[in-house]
Amino acid sequence: MHNFCRGYDKIHEILISLKTKTDITDILEIGCYAGMFVESLREMGYNASGIDKNPLILRSRGMKEGYLHYQDALDLDGYSDGLYDLIFTNRVLSREALIGELIDEYSSTVIEFISNGEKNKETFRKEVDSISRVRNRNILQAAYKRIKPGKYFVAVESDAEQLCFTEQEARALGYFIEQYDPSKAILKKPN
Ligand SMILES: C[S@@+](CC[C@H](N)C(=O)[O-])C[C@H]1O[C@@H](n2cnc3c(N)ncnc32)[C@H](O)[C@@H]1O
Repeated sequence: MHNFCRGYDKIHEILISLKTKTDITDILEIGCYAGMFVESLREMGYNASGIDKNPLILRSRGMKEGYLHYQDALDLDGYSDGLYDLIFTNRVLSREALIGELIDEYSSTVIEFISNGEKNKETFRKEVDSISRVRNRNILQAAYKRIKPGKYFVAVESDAEQLCFTEQEARALGYFIEQYDPSKAILKKPN
């Protein structure tokens, strides 16, 4: 039994269940950070790769060996023309994930803004929600073009966090909804 960190056990469970229905070989993780789970998938025999727009990835072994890339998911066309059986995210498509990134990028300004009283907190929450929704729709759309027909996009969040896109938004992009709850979505590209 594998012991994966923060949410990857859920991705692993979903992967096992998808494999009962279809072949899953080529896998891309969006927002893989240092790529630990991509490494595990490769050890299990999958043709797995990962991208992250955080330059931290530049220090990883996978970057040198060519399966981890410093790359924004919004530009998958500039990344490769490969197609995948599964594209997934873990803790990338929630409001909390975006706040974490904003704090990394603009720490003092953001913290000052958040701590400026209840009204600003609410404004901040709405702003982040709306940035997150647009960003996530764009990620889902970019991923759709890179998924093989009949194959999958999976997004998972920690239990306390929620995906910041709706079933309707995913459907409007062409996905068939196999499963959707606030912290887990299994979307299929139709044949
Ligand atoms: C909260 S971290 C989660 C990292 C990892 N998936 C985990 O669960 O440990 C979110 C990651 O998503 C990456 N990310 C966010 N938007 C991205 C995008 N458009 N393209 C590539 N990576 C992105 C961030 O750089 C960050 O490393």
